[in-house]
Amino acid sequence: MPVPDPRFSILSEDFAAAPHQYFAQLRERTPVHYEPAIDSYFLSRHQDVQRVLTDHEAFTTETLQVRAEPVMRGPVLAQMTGAEHTAKRKIVVRAFTGPALQDQTSAFRANATELVAPFLPRGRMDLVNDFGKPFAVHVTLDVLGLDRKDRQQITAWLGGISEFVTSIVLTPERRRHCLDCAEQLEAHLVPVIEQRRRHPGEDLISKLCTAEFDGIAMSTRDVTALVINVLVAAIEPADKTLALLFKHLIDHPEQLAQVRQDPALLPAAIAETLRYTPPVQLIPRQVERDAVFAGTVVPAGATVFCMIGAANRDPEAFTAPDTFDIHRPDLGAARSFTAAAQHLAFGTGLHQCVGAAFARAEIETVAALLLPLLDRVRYSPGFRYRETGLYTRGPAALSLDFTPVHNGITGHG
Ligand code: HEM
Repeated sequence: MPVPDPRFSILSEDFAAAPHQYFAQLRERTPVHYEPAIDSYFLSRHQDVQRVLTDHEAFTTETLQVRAEPVMRGPVLAQMTGAEHTAKRKIVVRAFTGPALQDQTSAFRANATELVAPFLPRGRMDLVNDFGKPFAVHVTLDVLGLDRKDRQQITAWLGGISEFVTSIVLTPERRRHCLDCAEQLEAHLVPVIEQRRRHPGEDLISKLCTAEFDGIAMSTRDVTALVINVLVAAIEPADKTLALLFKHLIDHPEQLAQVRQDPALLPAAIAETLRYTPPVQLIPRQVERDAVFAGTVVPAGATVFCMIGAANRDPEAFTAPDTFDIHRPDLGAARSFTAAAQHLAFGTGLHQCVGAAFARAEIETVAALLLPLLDRVRYSPGFRYRETGLYTRGPAALSLDFTPVHNGITGHG
């Protein structure tokens, strides 16, 4: 058992303010960091994180039974293994890749055009709250076939559900609130699912209802859990990545100019954003049998948190890892959205993100649409950048000024 370092805690306010400032120290001095308050271990080296995420026998997703299942109202994809996981994952993958994804691209553009329109004449927009969040919700509701008029209500329920899944410590009051949100979302979804069983359409809920697994259709509980799983997994990281992409490009004007000039660089810019500031910072696993990392034994039954942000900045994996560089040769834009990715922002192994290609298409389409519209884009005067979250992390807001657009023509004022 490692001796906890009394001077440093991942649960401290200092760490929460700027986690990346502690990554090198963690990797070098305490690559197996123990947090006594939550009896959990934090791994920060790329090779250790990769090992945990790919050795599915030794490191399981059992912990999600407590961390996710109560609010997902049933077992989520990441908890499943073997044939059940393969079959259900395939159904979800099909809805988010190939021809289904092609169909979505024009919907991404239409959604984005509608959402950005009211802000163009003003020359100011909060990319997180005015645009990114509603955009990610709209496109996910569309894929599922859920009515957009319920967007605000569903977003509020999802807030509670995400809080449950991503909280390191939760008070009993907050826990009750999160469970209430989950129960209300379930009550909202069940009649929709029942209706799609009777009258299936082309949406993902219909596909889940009509798909068969070993000759047996999925129960309403199974479908509800998968729908909540997709809602939680798809929305938050996508809106955070879009905002982080713009932040990094604004902070690196020469790279912004290059992307404006050559939008074919966008996949590389998105991949580098995911490496540099992955929106999913922690992935938990349960240790099946005693495991040794950097000479430290982590006992069977323990929870380990893979620190994706720290692993993605490990100099053993990337040259000059603390530099944002869309041209870095050690990333590979194309493979960054596949199982061969060198960065770990989508996880890796059996449970690697099923939405990686969808997320890439979503962010690439929207960024290609926004960049020419947001001429001279910059932070609004007085805006103070702040990131929040330990588990998932991104900007709380991103207030941007740009040259106002009147009737499609940029002007000044
Ligand atoms: C930039 C955006 C995204 C990021 C950074 C991201 C990140 C991740 C990560 C790190 C995991 C692995 C979790 C683990 O190993 O326990 C994961 C899994 C998953 N993601 Fe994503 N995700 C993104 C977008 C999406 C989208 C758009 C969808 C829509 C379907 C999605 C659906 C899922 C699902 C269903 C899983 C569980 C897969 C399984 O266990 O087999 N994600 N994602």
